[in-house]
Amino acid sequence: MASNKKLLVLPGDGIGPEVVGEVRRIVDWMDQRRHVSFDISEGLVGGASIDAHGTPLTDETMAEAMNVDAVLFGSIGGPKWETLPFNSQPERGLLRLRKEMDLFANLRPAMVFDALADASSLKHELVAGLDIMILRELTGGVYFGEPRGIETLPSGERRGFNTQSYTESEIERVARVGFELAQKRNGKLCSVEKANVMESGVLWREVVSSIAGDYPDVTLSHMYADNCAMQIVRNPKQFDVIVTDNLFGDILSDCAAMLTGSLGMLPSASLGAEDPTTGRRMALYEPVHGSAPDIAGQGKANPLAEVLSFAMLLRYSFDMGEDADIIEAAVGNVLGAGIRTADIAAPGQTAISTSEMGTALLKELDKLAA
Ligand code: IPM
Ligand code: MG
Repeated sequence: MASNKKLLVLPGDGIGPEVVGEVRRIVDWMDQRRHVSFDISEGLVGGASIDAHGTPLTDETMAEAMNVDAVLFGSIGGPKWETLPFNSQPERGLLRLRKEMDLFANLRPAMVFDALADASSLKHELVAGLDIMILRELTGGVYFGEPRGIETLPSGERRGFNTQSYTESEIERVARVGFELAQKRNGKLCSVEKANVMESGVLWREVVSSIAGDYPDVTLSHMYADNCAMQIVRNPKQFDVIVTDNLFGDILSDCAAMLTGSLGMLPSASLGAEDPTTGRRMALYEPVHGSAPDIAGQGKANPLAEVLSFAMLLRYSFDMGEDADIIEAAVGNVLGAGIRTADIAAPGQTAISTSEMGTALLKELDKLAA
């Protein structure tokens, strides 16, 4: 069916194609059962693109990503490409997408499904009912700061260096997204940096504080990143929305993932600014997990983070909250029925395959949509 919803699917490497494959089945289900269709094109990224085209992202695929309504991304990287020169590695493809699409706001929710509260490495009572949002700045900071490189000093010794840098406007735009998210949730925003050590952190704190007056319904607090890492595993339910920079957000979101039982459960949405005239906003959706080369191609991967990323895509890019709710409910019900891939199976529980998990989801979707 013709559709005005343009999607670019980039499965990538490792378990990416397997988990994206399960989303494709849900897309087909939506077409048949809910009469919602997408114009889907598929492209290569990361190692797969290196093998085919000698680059982790071609200009054509980059241009296509800028042109669609949303990009659904799998995962990239693997041992095969680790020995390539730094600037040719698979990760460059993802970083280029984020930078050129200007996806500065990366939403990484960490939600604990009731049935999985025991799969977490933390005590049940610490994580049961947990629902926090980590908002990671995604296009600035030490990931992109200049100067960067490895140089040889006059002594002959080499020096590797990167630059942590944030402008006021970069801080302000992500902080505003943080305040707005908090307004729609429980009204609490915790801004995280290292203002005790880094000037960029001092400025971060100043800028976030300076706009707090625009959001009188949000309670703002500040925390150092090291303390935040500790608090996330000590008492994660104290948080509602955390807003932080690119590097701290990368680390803290992996940390928060374990609260939910597995890295295989965490979705994410990376959003650009809304175009004031068209209302359009560039967006890429990807699981927080990586390409897991150790289990790739074996049908063992948990597709739920990718499926939940697709639910975020429906919610944020197409305003299809009801469909997103159904998919999220199906995930909850499947878990509630004790259906588990290996990463979330408790001792004694049988682990099913990636596609069996997909089949279980489709059955549940049939029931929910009946
Ligand atoms: C993530 C990943 C990426 C990052 C890698 C794959 C470049 O760890 O999305 O969290 O560091 O941002
Ligand atoms: Mg990461």
